[in-house]
Amino acid sequence: MGTHTHQNKEFFNNEAANYDARHEKTLDQIIQEIRARLDFIGVDWVADDDDNDNEGEDGKPSSGKTVRLLDYACGTGVVSRALAPYTTQCVGIDLSENMVAAYNARAENQGLATEEMHAYQGNICDPEDPSPAALASPGFHNFDIAAVGLGFHHFDDPELAATRLAERLRPGGVLLILDFLPHGKFDTHHPAAHTVTHHGFSEDQIKGIFTKAGVGKDFALDEVSRDIKFNRPALADHNHDHGSSQMHRRLFLARGTKA
Ligand SMILES: C[S@@+](CC[C@H](N)C(=O)[O-])C[C@H]1O[C@@H](n2cnc3c(N)ncnc32)[C@H](O)[C@@H]1O
Repeated sequence: MGTHTHQNKEFFNNEAANYDARHEKTLDQIIQEIRARLDFIGVDWVADDDDNDNEGEDGKPSSGKTVRLLDYACGTGVVSRALAPYTTQCVGIDLSENMVAAYNARAENQGLATEEMHAYQGNICDPEDPSPAALASPGFHNFDIAAVGLGFHHFDDPELAATRLAERLRPGGVLLILDFLPHGKFDTHHPAAHTVTHHGFSEDQIKGIFTKAGVGKDFALDEVSRDIKFNRPALADHNHDHGSSQMHRRLFLARGTKA
């Protein structure tokens, strides 16, 4: 396991219990920003229509239409929660078993069945393990959309991640990335500093990554208009002056289609 991978696993295992409470407002904003861009994302969604006469008993369309989401680096599941009303299945994967447990606890509390929303511990970005055995079954392939919310800047090799995610899309499937535009470097005393591999991404960088991964068709990037604030995690060293307890970030959503 690479150093950053190890540090991410440890850091997010410790963060899992507090993640939703600490970032509640920010996560709500992210849900709104994603839902405001359903057409931009360009998936043939399931209609979120409460009056839908064609629904089966489970509230999903009885037409048999399926829209499957892979929520990679899912954390507690903000991307899944944003897109659940427009999909038939959300599958989460995360490096951190505690994040996976938090994701699954939320899904179960909402009364969702495993077939509707469930996460699994795993890492598809390990250069030495191209196809982890635990993620080899058909249930982890042929997705209509694969999304990474705020994960790319933690990966050692985002291009490898995009390539591996593209392999798990059906032809015509969409890769969706939510991440930061370029920003100043972290204070090295920040508790999350060692988990971050990239200080944001430019449009050209992201377009290059999508193109090389084979998901560059109809590439588009949209800056999320609002200035988003993130509350910092608890500080490891209370004697050090870390400045503001909030970080301001500019976010983008980028999408591309697998040819
Ligand atoms: C900032 S959190 C984002 C979580 C969630 N997607 C969200 O938007 O709230 C980053 C997540 O990436 C996960 N992660 C980091 N490196 C990973 C890797 N190589 N494979 C899978 N997950 C990874 C961490 O465990 C953590 O849950």
